Amino acid sequence: MHEYNLSPMLMLGSGCRHKLTDILEGQSGAKALLVTDKDIRQLGIPDEISEILGKAGIETAVFDEVAADPTTDQVTAGLQMFLNENCSMIVAVGGGSPIDCAKNIVYVAREGAFEPAVSFRWGRFPLIAIPTTAGTGSEVSQYLVITDSDSGNKVVLRDSSFIPSVAVCDAELTTSLPPSVTVNTGMDAFSHALESYLATCATDFSDALAMKAIGIIVEFLPRAYKNGKRDMEAREKMMEAQMLAGMAFSNAGLGLCHATSHAVGSKYGVPHGRANAIMLPYVLAYNLPVVQRKVSRLFPILASRRGGLSWLQTSQEVGRIIWDLLRSLDIPASLKEEGVKAAGISELVETAYADPAGNTNPCTYEKSDINEIYRAALAGEMPFDIVG
Ligand SMILES: [Fe+2]
Repeated sequence: MHEYNLSPMLMLGSGCRHKLTDILEGQSGAKALLVTDKDIRQLGIPDEISEILGKAGIETAVFDEVAADPTTDQVTAGLQMFLNENCSMIVAVGGGSPIDCAKNIVYVAREGAFEPAVSFRWGRFPLIAIPTTAGTGSEVSQYLVITDSDSGNKVVLRDSSFIPSVAVCDAELTTSLPPSVTVNTGMDAFSHALESYLATCATDFSDALAMKAIGIIVEFLPRAYKNGKRDMEAREKMMEAQMLAGMAFSNAGLGLCHATSHAVGSKYGVPHGRANAIMLPYVLAYNLPVVQRKVSRLFPILASRRGGLSWLQTSQEVGRIIWDLLRSLDIPASLKEEGVKAAGISELVETAYADPAGNTNPCTYEKSDINEIYRAALAGEMPFDIVG
């Protein structure tokens, strides 16, 4: 038996945020806590969302204290504001950090002993997630990542109730992203799609989502990177692809790429999507012997089919296509460029080995395997055989 947990309502398309007034009809008088970060606030997006909510008669209180990698202290501060302001819903605006923080605030608020002030069509304390990056898929996923303020450890939590009530995926909100953020977040989405496609819990249902996302990202991420201010089609496609990839990994799980990148992110501060992008070829090369058939099926999506090749050769070709994609997006080939030194690897190995993201990796692994993967990622050499 497979259980699929999907967001009950998705709004997709350029300008769709303005349609929020339609779905919030009848909620006049309610108050929403708008959860965001200072950078997004500077762009004026939360003010615009407040204005749209105002048209539906909904007042907002803004909590903009979320930092990259949100902490339990930030959740507590947000919850305090939610209670003090007598809010009955939450609207998260931003990348994965504000959305994850808001998911956690809603969860604690719902579990609390107090009664909600207002009931709503999506149940108690609904969460509306409005992503401003095309990558994390947090607006449709049942996962959240939070850092324990006391221990400093990053914790990955999973609960079907974490899935926001409404996801508003409006590509217009991503046009001001700089190329580096476009690539880092876009490659996070690509890692979600590829890892969930190869995960041990993958099904035909999650594969359909993941394969479609892979095809879109390979075609449109280079365009969004090069001309993201003007190329609205590329922005729209990336927004949709990251959502598909988010649903895929939310239901199928991830793998060793995320487990090893979480460790690099925590220790060296490398942005999440960038760390994934660097680790991806090396983890794929490690997994390839057991997933060559499945990887080969990506070949027609990634390039025109070449006849006469074995599963192994075809899957190696797919690896090389992904390698070339990363180089065209100026992702460094080696962890060295992110400040990682050989002496630091043993600590990364311990952290990555304990990371639950690796539970659904297609191959089992020992610490020595993770050590080899990190050593390869430090050397930065193309890990796939060239097919003659
Ligand atoms: Fe991710």
